[in-house]
Amino acid sequence: MINIKKYRFFELDSTNSQAKRMASKEKEDILIIAERQTAGRGRMGRSFYSDEGGIYMSLLLHPSFSCEETNKITVMAAVAVSRAIEKTFSVSPEIKWVNDIFIGNKKVCGILTEGAFGKEKDKYDYAVLGIGINLFEPKGGFPEDIKDIAGAILKKDGNFDKEILIDTFLECFYDIYSGGGEYMKEYKARSNVLGRKIEYIKNGEIKKAEALDITDKGLLVVKDEVGISELSSGEIKIIVNSLK
Ligand code: BTN
Repeated sequence: MINIKKYRFFELDSTNSQAKRMASKEKEDILIIAERQTAGRGRMGRSFYSDEGGIYMSLLLHPSFSCEETNKITVMAAVAVSRAIEKTFSVSPEIKWVNDIFIGNKKVCGILTEGAFGKEKDKYDYAVLGIGINLFEPKGGFPEDIKDIAGAILKKDGNFDKEILIDTFLECFYDIYSGGGEYMKEYKARSNVLGRKIEYIKNGEIKKAEALDITDKGLLVVKDEVGISELSSGEIKIIVNSLK
């Protein structure tokens, strides 16, 4: 069992924001957990559906590696969440580069890593790893705008103890984060993007490409009509066949 201080809230604006507010006083890693969020954030300024029934958590980290590697934290977390879901529920999740976890054709988890940098520009003051897991299907279903893509691990609200998944995730994550495991191979093996024809949106333009590889820093290597390039997650949205 990972020995980390957990702070629990019923409602927060965003667990990532709360972790940032607490960061100056917390020199050790901590975990913030909320039952719901009023302003849950996703990548690229999008909101993240955060009603009761999900697990919304943020891990305040103090990484020793360089800030160029923020993607790496997301990649480690994606593998750790997938392993934890697999161990707990005996289903095998896939990863849509870079930060989405899918079961079948439905997104069941999103990850948002945010770094804060100190005077030495390439060093982290801290990083916040935010994870949102759709554990139970919402009673009235997911909202209209996400209902085609969002899914939940468990169909009905039940007795499942969220703590089991949270603790399994922490064990899986710290195993990788502390250098204990090969995770890149597994990240690629779980990818639902690699080897497939994709479309990506960059600077408002839709481009067709083939996803070839993922680098150790978590960049997606694609081949399009111009040639081979490496995409960083901050700037693009990916569409894989029927996935959105
Ligand atoms: C995405 O799908 O683009 C990423 C979603 C990340 C959501 C989690 S929920 C816990 C943490 N707090 C937030 O405001 N966002 C992350």
